Amino acid sequence: MKRTTSFAAFAAALAVPCAAQNAVVPESFTAQDKGYCIACHRLPDGVGPATRADLGPPLTGERMRALGRAKIREAIEDPTKANPATVMPPYGRHRILDAAEIQRLVEFLHALP
Ligand code: HEC
Repeated sequence: MKRTTSFAAFAAALAVPCAAQNAVVPESFTAQDKGYCIACHRLPDGVGPATRADLGPPLTGERMRALGRAKIREAIEDPTKANPATVMPPYGRHRILDAAEIQRLVEFLHALP
C-alpha cells in the first residue's frame, strides 16, 4: 500500500490540543510551506511535535514573556534587524507569512508553558 502521510499531516495530527497545556500549535509553525519553525526551534515538552532542532534557541514560555509581544513580533517579522547575519528568515519583510499568521504565532509563543 502506498504511503500518503505527509510530514505536514503527521505534524498536524500531533498538534492536537494537549489536555494539560491546551496549546494548539499553529499550522504556520509546523508547515513546510509556511513558517516551518520546527526545523530550527524546539518547543517545551508536550507541546507540538517532538524535534531535536537546535539551529535556533528553544522557545519557552518564560523566555517569550520576558521578551514581550513586540520583541517576539520583531523576531518573526525581521530578525535581521537584531542580527544581520541570522539564518532565520524575515517572515514579515519577505511576506512569507501574513500579518494574521504572525499575530497568531506571537500569541501562541507568548502563551507557551
Ligand atoms: C533556519 C532556522 C530558523 C527558522 C526556520 C526559524 N528560526 Fe527563529 N531563530 C533562529 C535563530 C538562529 C535564532 C537566534 C537569533 C539570531 O540568529 O540572531 C532565532 C530566534 C528566534 C526568536 C527569538 C528567540 C529568543 O530567545 O530571543 C523567536 C521568537 C523565533 N526565532 C521564532 C521563530 C518562529 C515563530 C519561526 C517560524 C515562523 C522561526 N523562528 C523560524 C533560527 C530559525
